[in-house]
This record gives sequence, structure tokens and C-alpha cells, in this order.
Amino acid sequence: MIEGGYTDIHMHVIPYADDGAEDFDDALAMLRMAYEEGIRNVIATPHSAGFDRWRNDIRKNYELLKEKAEDEPIGINLMLGSEIRIFPDEMGKIFKNIKKGKYPTLNGTNKLLAEFQPGERDFDDVAKCMHMLTDSGYVPIIAHAERYQFSVDQIYELKERGCLIQINYADVIPIGDHPMPKKANIMLRDKMVSFIATDAHRSTRRTPHIGVALKYLYNTYNDVYIDKIVRTEIME
Ligand SMILES: [Fe+2]
Repeated sequence: MIEGGYTDIHMHVIPYADDGAEDFDDALAMLRMAYEEGIRNVIATPHSAGFDRWRNDIRKNYELLKEKAEDEPIGINLMLGSEIRIFPDEMGKIFKNIKKGKYPTLNGTNKLLAEFQPGERDFDDVAKCMHMLTDSGYVPIIAHAERYQFSVDQIYELKERGCLIQINYADVIPIGDHPMPKKANIMLRDKMVSFIATDAHRSTRRTPHIGVALKYLYNTYNDVYIDKIVRTEIME
């Protein structure tokens, strides 16, 4: 295990916030699993739509989960963030919500986790939105960058314009010609990935297990680079 433990910047661990943790037992089970895997820092990132629906409850449930995890103690430093869904037509509302703190950035930094709509194809629209965010001093981290219809070169273009790239542990092991691991591995090979995260949703499915992926990463890529993306600079 890496000194200081791994940092996971993308986990749906707050109960009743989104399609993640089902209840507090499930959330605590996820955190215990993460601890067993060597993860020591977790940023809870509920989908932004959850904040539209249950804003106050999400914060309350985050605080309660943090308290329960500290009481046990599980040994995980839990922080708050969100996974902000980018709708090109709603950038005004999104900006307002980020500024008001309704859509939390990652642990109070200027970094935020941004996801595109599934099936989003209009690259110019997306690039414009990302540009608006970087222009306002934010550093958007593209959540699971391997999962979109965009090419690796288009993702790199966003990086050149000030975005960072996050990929999911679950997508790193090549499976035949599957496009997601293929893209993830090109981005790893090119050292373009800044963060690798679990995007865990439950203790029973999409779990925070990272052992097999870690073994693959260290066997395939440069140790110093992998150390960097599993630890991540979010804490610095
Ligand atoms: Fe997610």
C-alpha cells in the first residue's frame, strides 16, 4: 500500500442522495471496504441532480455519515464534493449553484468533478462549457473520461484548455476491443490521467474494490506515475 493511503475523489457514498448508498449501513460498509483496500481519503460526490431535489438532506446525511465513520472509527477521512452534470443550456443555473455552494466543489477547492450527459455528442458545446468554467477560475475534472462518445484527442483538447482527466478503476483492465478500457489505457500510456477513482455506488454492486486494477496498473505502467494518480494532488 502506498504511504498515506489512496485518495478516492469520486464515490456515491452519501445515503439517500442519489443512486449510490442505499442507507447508512450500506454507506458504512462501503467505507470499510475502501479502508480494507488501502483508501484513506474519500470525497463523497453525489450527482448534482440530488442537490436540486434534496439539498439540505444531503448535507445533513453527509455530516451524519462523517460522524458515524469517525465514531467507529473506520479510519477514512471523508470530505464533501459533488458530481456536476453539465447541461450546455443550463450553464447559468450551474454557475449560480456552484457559487452558492449548492453544488459543492471538491473539498472546498477550485476543483470540481464534471460529468457530461450520457450520449452527449456535441463536442463544441461541451468545450464551450468547460471553457466558461476554467475562465471563472475553476479546474473541471472530467469524470470517467473514458466513458463518452468523444475521441481521446478531443478529451486531450479539453485538458489543454485547463481540464483534468479522471478515469474509473473499473475500466482499466482491457477486455478485447471494448472501447472504455481501450481509451483508458491510451490515456494512461500518454500519462494524461490525473486521477483514478472508484465511482463506487453500493457495497453490493459497483463496489470500492481496487486491488485487481491496482495490480494491473503497477504491472503495466511506470510506478512513479501510478503512485501519483492513485494518491492524487487534490489534498495538496
Ligand atoms: Fe459518478
